[in-house]
Amino acid sequence: MANIMVTKRCNLRCPYCFANEFVNDSGDITINEFRSILDFILLDGSDPKLGLIGGEPTIHCEFDKLLNIIAEDERIKNCIIYTNGIKLKKFINLLENEKFRLLINCNDIRNSHSLFDEFSDSLDVAFHSISKRITLGANFYKPDYDYGYILELVKKYSCDKLRVSISLPNSKDYEYEPLNYFKIVKPHIFTFFRELKALGCIPFFDCNIMPSCVFTAEEMLEFEEWGRENPFSVIKNRHTGCVPVIDILPDGTAVRCFGLSEYSKTNIRNFACIQDLKFYYLRTVDAYALNSATDKKCISCYKFKTAKCTGGCLVYKIGKIIDKYEKECF
Ligand SMILES: C[S@@+](CC[C@H](N)C(=O)[O-])C[C@H]1O[C@@H](n2cnc3c(N)ncnc32)[C@H](O)[C@@H]1O
Ligand code: SF4
Ligand code: SF4
Repeated sequence: MANIMVTKRCNLRCPYCFANEFVNDSGDITINEFRSILDFILLDGSDPKLGLIGGEPTIHCEFDKLLNIIAEDERIKNCIIYTNGIKLKKFINLLENEKFRLLINCNDIRNSHSLFDEFSDSLDVAFHSISKRITLGANFYKPDYDYGYILELVKKYSCDKLRVSISLPNSKDYEYEPLNYFKIVKPHIFTFFRELKALGCIPFFDCNIMPSCVFTAEEMLEFEEWGRENPFSVIKNRHTGCVPVIDILPDGTAVRCFGLSEYSKTNIRNFACIQDLKFYYLRTVDAYALNSATDKKCISCYKFKTAKCTGGCLVYKIGKIIDKYEKECF
């Protein structure tokens, strides 16, 4: 799926933000550029879905116009808006259009009363009118991540699912080996998940999925049980690969997901259509990633050999991907 970064501006500065290479004080997409990127994504009819990201998309100076363009474009069946939720309230009428889904990334902003009040107000209004099309998200960005405020939100809005991201490193000096890091966060994740489960909420990962070798057989069984009870279970995402997620910046620069941005920049104008760009990333990033092991123990693992596990996010092996690519191409 392709996401359009409609603005580089943001009203928050999250410590874990992997878009921080681009997030700054200026850079709203123009309406013309937005239309031209939409045409590029939709031209070949291969994917009628798209995402809006930022920065914070809802602070784009003409966000209402962008929503109207999407609402009126018959080529678009589904649009996910990735938002921190703070400014949603004034767009609720437009978001009532069934095409829109909201992925609200919840940050702990309780220490800023004005932001927190605005956020709470927006969520109250949004859940009141379009609750079925809202998913809340939590970024588990450190082992001792204090998720108490998430539990409160889940309880308040009776959420039956929660998107959980184990945040990716946003700098090269990542502290842990990935599989060790997964093991370190696992007990905390489990406690969190069980508390969610007790509230009737099933968590799911949609990227950087924890590999099965991190869990014991009993833990896997527990997940299986949850899977039987709820279609959004973590277990549904046991295959740990990711389709080429493509993020397109306001000037047409494309990256193979923000996490891989330093190494995968190109421009949509170098490609005839979105499928061309996808194949380019499959050749230059994904194919090398599938052949690079996250950890030496993966090399003898059948899940690695059968491409059923990528060992977490591809970003963990970017150095190896580049080595392989350069050896083959130069
Ligand atoms: C870059 S944000 C932009 C949109 C909006 N400001 C927001 O926070 O949702 C888009 C998505 O990236 C995710 N994200 C940000 N930093 C991340 C990281 N280090 N690892 C994984 N996901 C991350 C957020 O959870 C959010 O869903
Ligand atoms: S994660 Fe979203 S809200 Fe947080 S700094 Fe990045 S763009 Fe802004
Ligand atoms: S491929 Fe690696 S990370 Fe995945 S299950 Fe096997 S050993 Fe674990």
